[in-house]
Amino acid sequence: MDIIYIDHNDKQRQLHRIYLENILDECQVHEFFNLDEALAYLNQNKGKVESKFGFTFILVNSNTRENSKIELGDFFEKAHTIRPTAPFCLLDEEGFSVNNSLKNFNHYHPSNRVVTLPIAPADFRMTILRILYPDRMSLEATPAYQKIRLFNFFRFNKPHCNVYLKLSRLKYVKVFNEGVKYSRSDLEKLKLKDVEFLYIRNADFQKFQVSIFRNNFLEFDSQKATADELKEKLDFGHAMLSEIVRRLGFSEEAIELTQKSLAAIQGLIDKEESLDALIQEFRGGEDYLYDHSYLCCIIASDLLKQMNWWSPERLEIISFASLLHDVTVSNPKLAKVSSKDDPTLSQFDENEVKEYLLHPLEGFELISKYPFLPEKVGTIICQHHENPEGTGFPSSLRPQNIDRLSAVFIIAHELVNALEKENYEGNSLEVILLDFSSRYNVSPFKEVFEALHFLNEKSVAS
Ligand SMILES: [Fe+2]
Ligand SMILES: [Fe+2]
Repeated sequence: MDIIYIDHNDKQRQLHRIYLENILDECQVHEFFNLDEALAYLNQNKGKVESKFGFTFILVNSNTRENSKIELGDFFEKAHTIRPTAPFCLLDEEGFSVNNSLKNFNHYHPSNRVVTLPIAPADFRMTILRILYPDRMSLEATPAYQKIRLFNFFRFNKPHCNVYLKLSRLKYVKVFNEGVKYSRSDLEKLKLKDVEFLYIRNADFQKFQVSIFRNNFLEFDSQKATADELKEKLDFGHAMLSEIVRRLGFSEEAIELTQKSLAAIQGLIDKEESLDALIQEFRGGEDYLYDHSYLCCIIASDLLKQMNWWSPERLEIISFASLLHDVTVSNPKLAKVSSKDDPTLSQFDENEVKEYLLHPLEGFELISKYPFLPEKVGTIICQHHENPEGTGFPSSLRPQNIDRLSAVFIIAHELVNALEKENYEGNSLEVILLDFSSRYNVSPFKEVFEALHFLNEKSVAS
């Protein structure tokens, strides 16, 4: 069954998704944080036959209307025209008047319901089952374990209860112990094995729910936190950020995570005297996209300083661009390709390559939907694979048409890629710079390249 769930409250939406995935065995939840995106999704899938699991079911938090351009009444009418057989459930936090605003609410579908929030999990379960299966007399017993999407475990690093992996219908094996820390790589290993859900005992569910709402693992004071703590926060925060942005776009939670990541990077830069030491910190990490994003940010911000071009606004732009430039790329092997003539491209299938060569545009389009991000972030993302030879992608821009701040980012990005290829060996910087000197000698790259020499001297001195 396909479920459209629209709620601007990120934590509540995620928690309700957990409920729904436990209530309905085979369901596909499509989350949205405003009505406009949900309607666009319904429109895109208008002609499609409903999924093999049955009909679409729409849940909306009435408060989401404040976050949306379209009126709730209009959304309801349009959604009903697209999916007339889909029951509609309105989650109401503040006594929203259905009769005045949603004229045909009770007529369009016999199962349409208003549910008042907050609601206990057991009542939520009963309500949803009654809406979807009104003829079923007795409801099945609640299972002994509740499944929780793996992604939710990136919110903390210490579970409040034992966590299990399901081996078969009746067999569960413990993967994390209550109160014992796990690392991001423990979660990544499970992800690699295609583990989508972990399980907790039903009796622990209440505790788990509270920990999602009260969790402050990603809160920190960058002045007081140690470098190791900051790296741990970055590690978990980045995993969540890419997942949320890829799945949902920039919800409030994604914005918050981006800001926290930026604060943690800045905290790390302030704590570490030498750039070389910082580069070494990120060396050989397990997640290429993660190392790559943070190293780009660190190097680009240092270049701005060396060029005497540093300002809080530019730092903000370059930091956002570093974190987000490859956010639409899911294959880390492809992310390492920086030119369209790279021979490694032949290892991938044609469509994958085509898609990859468009990722700067895709990223740009994603960013331009969010006016709170400085405009320049989009420009940098769009241009991050352009080059001084004019043979970059997607636009093969000539260097004079490349933005100066993009040039800073491009050089930082190329340097990170080159360092990675050399496995961050200390003496490789000189060789890389020699190669760069014959390429980056045209404007707007020239000045940036000159600043790169300071970096070499600094790293040799340190
Ligand atoms: Fe990149
Ligand atoms: Fe890229």
